[in-house]
Amino acid sequence: MTSGTGGAAGTFGRDFVDELDQLLRWRRDVRRFRTDPVPSDVFDEILTAAELSPSVGNSQPWRWVQVISPARRLAVTEVFARCNARALDGYSGDRARTYASLKLAGLDDAPVHLAVFCAPDPRQGAGLGRATMPQTLEYSVVTAISTLWLAARARGVGIGWVSIIDPVEVRAALDVPADWTLVAYLCLGYPETLDATPELERLGWQDRTDPRARFQTR
Ligand SMILES: Cc1cc2nc3c(=O)[nH]c(=O)nc-3n(C[C@H](O)[C@H](O)[C@H](O)COP(=O)(O)O)c2cc1C
Repeated sequence: MTSGTGGAAGTFGRDFVDELDQLLRWRRDVRRFRTDPVPSDVFDEILTAAELSPSVGNSQPWRWVQVISPARRLAVTEVFARCNARALDGYSGDRARTYASLKLAGLDDAPVHLAVFCAPDPRQGAGLGRATMPQTLEYSVVTAISTLWLAARARGVGIGWVSIIDPVEVRAALDVPADWTLVAYLCLGYPETLDATPELERLGWQDRTDPRARFQTR
């Protein structure tokens, strides 16, 4: 099967591969959202796709918490505001001016807030692959977030990852089990605009650099 979007089960045609590359190019971290809701069937499809992600020992340690309570959403937004102000204090000169001009979260407008946690349930996966690298449990959650990001974008839904927050304060605001670790706080919704270039690159904060500098053989 070399062309066409379909193929035998588990094979992919050239057209699909080209479209997938387009999806990767246009994924974007989104901070400017329209306020119209993400239909629940679309949200369910996105989560179902993310559940197909790989995980160490097949442990599936990700836990999705959709934050619907206005009080909890406000609490997280306030944690972000405090952490963002502290982060701004750490810069000076031009960097501080640029940082102050950046929009680093879409918490006010995004219709969906989704906190993603790592749960260390030792029965799941029976420890396989985790003994020498326990951090693979959290790496597994990141793979699920990456799948979620692409599955969302393929359906026209943007995701913004908000990490300028105190994970312990957010865990307390959401009242989840104490042994869960916050991996990501995500905003989901339909993007206001589309762009093939990262916002931080467009605003002069950080360019994409030469990929050859990140590859080597030994
Ligand atoms: C782990 C992680 C944390 C991030 N945290 C933030 C954040 O707090 N605020 C923000 O605006 N973008 C955040 N981003 C998005 C990055 O700024 C963005 O991915 C990068 O600039 C490249 O842009 P692109 O995702 O549109 O390609 C985060 C991305 C990752 C992977």
